[in-house]
Amino acid sequence: MTYETLLVETRGRVGLITLNRPQALNALNRQLLDELTGVLAGFEADAGIGAIVITGSEKAFAAGADIKEMQPYGFAQAMLEDLAAGWDDVAGCRKPMIAAVSGFALGGGCELAMMCDFIIASETAKFGQPEITLGVIPGMGGTQRLTRAIGKSKAMDLCLTGRLMDAAEAERSGLVARVVAPEKLLDEALAAAEKIAGFSLTAAMMAKEAVGRAYETVLSEGMRAERRLFHALFATDDQKEGMTAFIEKRKPAFRHR
Ligand code: CAA
Repeated sequence: MTYETLLVETRGRVGLITLNRPQALNALNRQLLDELTGVLAGFEADAGIGAIVITGSEKAFAAGADIKEMQPYGFAQAMLEDLAAGWDDVAGCRKPMIAAVSGFALGGGCELAMMCDFIIASETAKFGQPEITLGVIPGMGGTQRLTRAIGKSKAMDLCLTGRLMDAAEAERSGLVARVVAPEKLLDEALAAAEKIAGFSLTAAMMAKEAVGRAYETVLSEGMRAERRLFHALFATDDQKEGMTAFIEKRKPAFRHR
């Protein structure tokens, strides 16, 4: 299957999605959202895929939601169409997703990176929520996920001034998990995804779900959710294999179920 706004391939158990609107620095339009949600749904349904990498170009991961598409909107249309709400489906993907970010990750681009489970950035990456410069505010989760990721003071700084943050500051702030040289970005992200995809798929999906609860709920509720997911994993073949392999001093052969 071919797409107009994405390049999609599989590498072993890893699904690789490259945002591909170079003429617009990968601005996120409706078509890209539709294509991305379709691809993610396919990857989620495919037992052969254990992890997903989303990347862009060297110059831009994505320079935001498509300003040209949004410019004519009025309030009523934005509300009726629930503008930006479709991105909740991307954030809702249950398989591990890594953002490999080079260049600009601005506005919706930064928000898309934050929808992924962690971000690996090139030294050239620049993150920001410059919506204030356009007379709006972030609409794809920026005020919420950025605040949870880097705290109130820095999130306010970025959302209120619209300034950009380089990769080093993003790593210091906890937005980014790793920073690597530009030429190593994709290899690093693919290697991390391959590692994740080699583990029990059920365990990886549950780890993602459990960490996700920490984002969304109070500690006691998160602990309860974690405990139940932890218990549930004792019903899987992969738990028996993983623990038996440890005791027998051999590598586990996970069956991903
Ligand atoms: N939407 C639509 N088109 C965009 C775009 C965007 N977000 N960002 C860049 N483009 C287009 C430009 O219009 C330009 O197209 P033309 O050649 O047809 O004029 C092309 O991409 C190349 O961009 P530039 O010439 O501007 O490239 P540059 O290297 O000089 O600057 C940049 C790069 C600093 C990233 C600049 O493009 C920029 O500031 N982009 C907008 C960033 C932004 O404000 N993002 C937030 C969008 S709003 C949002 O995301 C809301 C939300 O939360 C849902």
